[in-house]
Amino acid sequence: MKKNRRNFIKLSGIAGLSLTAGGLMKNYASELKQYDPNLPQNIIDSEKSHTQSFNMSGFAAPKISTVRIGIIGLGQRGPAHIKTMNRIDGVEIKALCDLRPEKAESAKKLLDNTDHNPELYSGSPEEWKKLCERNDLDLIILTTPWYMHAEMAVYAMEQGKHVASEVPAAATIEEAWKLVETAERTRKHCMMLENYSYMPFQLLMLNMAKKGFFGEIVHGEGAYNTSKMKNNFNKNFYWNMWWLRQYGSRKGNIYPTHGLGPIAQMMDINRGDRFDFLISVESRDFMMQNRAGELAKEDPFFEEFKDLDFRGNMNISIIKTIQGKTIMLQHDATTPSPHNMIHGIYGTKGAALYDPQPPRISAGNHKWVSPEEFENIKKKYTPEIFHKFSNLSSGHGGSDLKEDWHLIDCLHNGLPLDQDVYDAAAWSSVLPLSEWSVRNNSNSVKIPDFTSGSWKINKRNMDINLERGGNTPILS
Ligand SMILES: NC(=O)c1ccc[n+]([C@@H]2O[C@H](COP(=O)([O-])OP(=O)(O)OC[C@H]3O[C@@H](n4cnc5c(N)ncnc54)[C@H](O)[C@@H]3O)[C@@H](O)[C@H]2O)c1
Repeated sequence: MKKNRRNFIKLSGIAGLSLTAGGLMKNYASELKQYDPNLPQNIIDSEKSHTQSFNMSGFAAPKISTVRIGIIGLGQRGPAHIKTMNRIDGVEIKALCDLRPEKAESAKKLLDNTDHNPELYSGSPEEWKKLCERNDLDLIILTTPWYMHAEMAVYAMEQGKHVASEVPAAATIEEAWKLVETAERTRKHCMMLENYSYMPFQLLMLNMAKKGFFGEIVHGEGAYNTSKMKNNFNKNFYWNMWWLRQYGSRKGNIYPTHGLGPIAQMMDINRGDRFDFLISVESRDFMMQNRAGELAKEDPFFEEFKDLDFRGNMNISIIKTIQGKTIMLQHDATTPSPHNMIHGIYGTKGAALYDPQPPRISAGNHKWVSPEEFENIKKKYTPEIFHKFSNLSSGHGGSDLKEDWHLIDCLHNGLPLDQDVYDAAAWSSVLPLSEWSVRNNSNSVKIPDFTSGSWKINKRNMDINLERGGNTPILS
């Protein structure tokens, strides 16, 4: 079939007649296949049926008094979680794994003079499986490169462990479905650790949204715009230049969830609304291939990168929800523009904008409120989880500690987690779907309903006012 937008819209309409999630998925993938016979494998693979076997939204596992943890991946992010978990009572870090033995050793040293004495796993790419197979762990934290997360999460859940995965949790649509299927079947938590949801202004905005300050939310926007040129081209920063390899082989928004997660929570996505479709537009690459070429002239190490078809410098994706709201996402990891998360929310009664700084709030009269009024609103709407940590600092504006602490507190108290497997799947799916759109003339692509229709009945579950639990002590 010839590629054209009209055919695609016709086919989308046919897909919309299907009632079951299985039927929807089948038609969804078939329509894409007909639309473009050269579809990436990840989308073709999603052509399978899924019937929800158990609704994981609102799921609460039995209480765990001491949460026994294993961590896989000890580069930059793994040690950050070790440091925060070490500050939380009722946690035992029992096992650490990294492909590189020196990373496992240095991570263990962070726990010298503490009660934690983790066993180390390293030296082969499959060692992580042995960690998952231990029968004395409750929770496995994944801090490996993101294209490894889904395989590791699925295996860990199969071994009876809860999973907390760094962002994004899946790199293909098929992987996202596997997370959903496995969590439902094993009844294990699979939370994506979207820590930007716990940043001070994002928490404030979420509480304001929940309490109706913005009225009906109409539009949200979020970004991860921060230059990674230095780190991505540094031979000694990321393991095996994995980020540069992703930039050199994929298209689309390959880091969508920091921008999207907080907005999705404000909009009650998967709880009364859900993503419907997206389109994605991308600039060409004006910087990375040039940089790789320059470096290759002086250092043969960069030869393999100099002819890669790099992702464009700016990716802009737009999502429409079933309830008619819009979300704009940006991802720019190369231009020298200052760090800019955007994070805007616009409703019928008010608006808030985090970046460019300073953060601003509108109470609905076409003006940003005065600094005094801003402080009053902040005082009124700052949620309890923020007050609990007001004297304590941690990474990412204090969000890392709040995120890890609330995860552990919910497990201690047998409460639902702040983000569930459907959030992990839906937020991560923007990565492969924006890639598909970019590779197909920015055409629209349907976003699967990972909740299989239960978004209509699912309740909010991010308890930022600590109405339940909240009794886990912080040690320092
Ligand atoms: N939430 C946040 O704010 C935030 C910040 C940074 C990174 N991240 C995410 O964290 C993840 C890790 O990023 P990073 O910056 O730490 O990368 P990194 O390259 O510094 O660390 C990855 C580690 O995984 C190890 N590894 C690779 N293959 C392995 C295997 N088969 N078994 C065990 N270990 C293996 C590597 O040796 C390396 O030490 C990524 O998914 C990234 O997106 C999130």
